[in-house]
Amino acid sequence: MTNIHISVLLNEAVALLEVSNGKWYIDATFGRGGHTAQILKAGGNVIAFDWDLEAIEYGTATFAKEIAAGNLLLVHESFTKIEHSLSQLRSKHSKEFLIDGVLFDFGTSTQQLTSTVRGFSFEGEGELDMRMDTRLGVTAKDILALIPEAQLAELFNDFGGEEESKIIAKAIKMSPTPITTTKQLSSLIASVKRRRKSGINPATKVFQALRIVVNSELDEIRDALPSAFSVLSEGGRLVTISFHEGEDRIVKQQFKNWEQNKLAELITKKPLQPTEKETFENKRARSAKLRALRKI
Ligand SMILES: C[S@@+](CC[C@H](N)C(=O)[O-])C[C@H]1O[C@@H](n2cnc3c(N)ncnc32)[C@H](O)[C@@H]1O
Repeated sequence: MTNIHISVLLNEAVALLEVSNGKWYIDATFGRGGHTAQILKAGGNVIAFDWDLEAIEYGTATFAKEIAAGNLLLVHESFTKIEHSLSQLRSKHSKEFLIDGVLFDFGTSTQQLTSTVRGFSFEGEGELDMRMDTRLGVTAKDILALIPEAQLAELFNDFGGEEESKIIAKAIKMSPTPITTTKQLSSLIASVKRRRKSGINPATKVFQALRIVVNSELDEIRDALPSAFSVLSEGGRLVTISFHEGEDRIVKQQFKNWEQNKLAELITKKPLQPTEKETFENKRARSAKLRALRKI
């Protein structure tokens, strides 16, 4: 995998935001700023969130001109704090910041996934950390050490869809030395897993499950959507890109709930998916689903 992040559904997502000149948009998941750059290019201003300090530092250096011009504000915070952070920014800048659109591009960036030291990658040799926000308390190796075998198996199954979760959990708990590195974990999984899919690393699902749990990813999404919706102006748009069933299910249900309560109108009746060309060029786009709504 290349370690340059390629933004998924870039043109589609930004087109659905219907960016207008001089209006404000929230990019809730700044990452490498691909979507932010496209919104700025279309004439919008951006308040961008990321809870990974590395992403914010990268953005501060790369977008220095836009920040100095007052077209971009970067916020090092969880996207569950959109409402709170926006009210802080309003008082700090004595400015209303009416929000015409919010974009979420869930999950991890390629920089996070391919870093050899942050523990997301089964190809690396780093400590099993996996915290996107290093202020979070529990790492992946803590989870392997602290959670009992049966619950560990449940977690691999529920959040990763791992069919051989019991065998893997048992092997982790039976290991004579504690599993603390990505290399140890991926080798152990490779040695006990019986069924393999060609082209897919046998540790993929367990690594995904651990990442979701360490970062409470599904709870973060569940809490963030109402916060984002509450700051949207009437007629404003909310656009989400999800990468697995767990994420998409939360978005789908929340959007349906707003629609049924006549608070929003769905723009995408069915989720939009990348073209074959995009998935061919960027493997990460394979499972992406984009949903969009308009606040009434
Ligand atoms: C897929 S990347 C975004 C890529 C970006 N759209 C681009 O084109 O460069 C997701 C980013 O969201 C951030 N993120 C994930 N969960 C978050 C949360 N709960 N709060 C704030 N940022 C989060 C991650 O740290 C990561 O940098």
